[in-house]
Amino acid sequence: MNILLIGAGGREHALAWKLARSRRAGTIFAAPGNAGIREEAECVALPIDDPAVVITFCKKNDVRLVVIGPEAPLVAGLADALADEGIATFGPKKAAARLEGSKSFTKDICRRYGIPTADYAVFDTEAAALAHLKAAGAPIVVKADGLAAGKGVIVATEMAQAEAAIRDIFGGVFGAAGAKVVLEEMLIGEEASFFALCDGRTALPLATAQDHKRAFDNDEGPNTGGMGAYSPAPVMTGAMNARVMDEIITPTLTAMAEAGTPYVGVLYAGLMITEDGPKLIEYNVRFGDPECQPLMMRLNTDLVDLMEAATTGDLAGGAVDWDARAALSVVMATRGYPGSYEKGSVIEGVERAAADDLVKVFHAGTSRDDDGALIATGGRVLNVTALGETITQAQRRAYEAVAKIDWPEGFHRTDIGHRAVAREREG
Ligand code: AMP
Ligand code: GLY
Repeated sequence: MNILLIGAGGREHALAWKLARSRRAGTIFAAPGNAGIREEAECVALPIDDPAVVITFCKKNDVRLVVIGPEAPLVAGLADALADEGIATFGPKKAAARLEGSKSFTKDICRRYGIPTADYAVFDTEAAALAHLKAAGAPIVVKADGLAAGKGVIVATEMAQAEAAIRDIFGGVFGAAGAKVVLEEMLIGEEASFFALCDGRTALPLATAQDHKRAFDNDEGPNTGGMGAYSPAPVMTGAMNARVMDEIITPTLTAMAEAGTPYVGVLYAGLMITEDGPKLIEYNVRFGDPECQPLMMRLNTDLVDLMEAATTGDLAGGAVDWDARAALSVVMATRGYPGSYEKGSVIEGVERAAADDLVKVFHAGTSRDDDGALIATGGRVLNVTALGETITQAQRRAYEAVAKIDWPEGFHRTDIGHRAVAREREG
């Protein structure tokens, strides 16, 4: 079966790598891909915001499955256009992608279906939001309602900070994404990423993961897309996973089906594990990046089979087999990220780092110059991912590989997995 994978990040490299290992994969195309994806797939320059061109490409190349990695094309409705042409697509249609595209849409479902989440209120004027803030006080979390590339959330410990955030958002710093503001209760606990494969009716839980969102060690510095991740997340016990399925994922799938907008694809719940149990922070309508990288290292089941079953409504009774070992991924980013940074620096030593069978270096923002040298072209650039019997072992192996990479313009956190490693040390 020929497959088209949309995206260019480390998540898509991990997906391409796993898809390429399927006994059912024919030619895998990637649009636009990157230097790592190019080793697994044929990279093509397709305007993914022009569904007609994508459809023509799929027909011409006998593509039977389209896998959409990032959220933007999903929120824009690429899956709808492909479905209209009968092309199976892994990823939700526009109406279902609102679970990520609109925080107030998700909050409304939580309220109607009793899904545990932070208390919240939605405002469409600055005055009303400021009045609520005055009554509620700090700490409080201020969010732009729409997609803001992960930057639209301000966890405000002080009143002044919350007030400034509200003024900024209504002032237009996030453009149309800030037409509405959500104010919510600050949740206390440990965060975890939970993934479920969905076919519209049935949800199959995948492995859990934990992400590190802050740029620097000890969870300091600005928020990023994620500086490292590992799987499984020790905080997610079997009992906790069952609660998440019962209290959060299943009612959400029911809500979407009842609304006539069934959810197909991977549903990623960002959770806070509080004293009262799991609470939903937010949904994403795609795999996490970098969480997907350790997940793909651990996945034993054929990914094409799983994704196809999701698109045909055949997940019921299915099972997913995981490597019992842990996997951990360290993100190497260009100095300056998540702020401004220079593109074009040369990276050496990736082959050396990846020589260990238990290590995989996934590429995010990379390309090759005319001489074949590896060039950094993005903020997050490499995801050095390793398997180990324990998270401690996976961490050691990943950092040994990182040390073999020669890239003076890059930086990485040195403490990915610290919570899990501390837990393992305590036994
Ligand atoms: P989001 O984009 O909604 O995932 O938010 C980004 C980050 O902000 C989350 O990963 C949390 O660390 C934090 N956050 C969001 N909402 C809350 C909340 N209600 N309480 C505490 N932290 C939150
Ligand atoms: N790693 C967080 C995300 O993918 O949104």
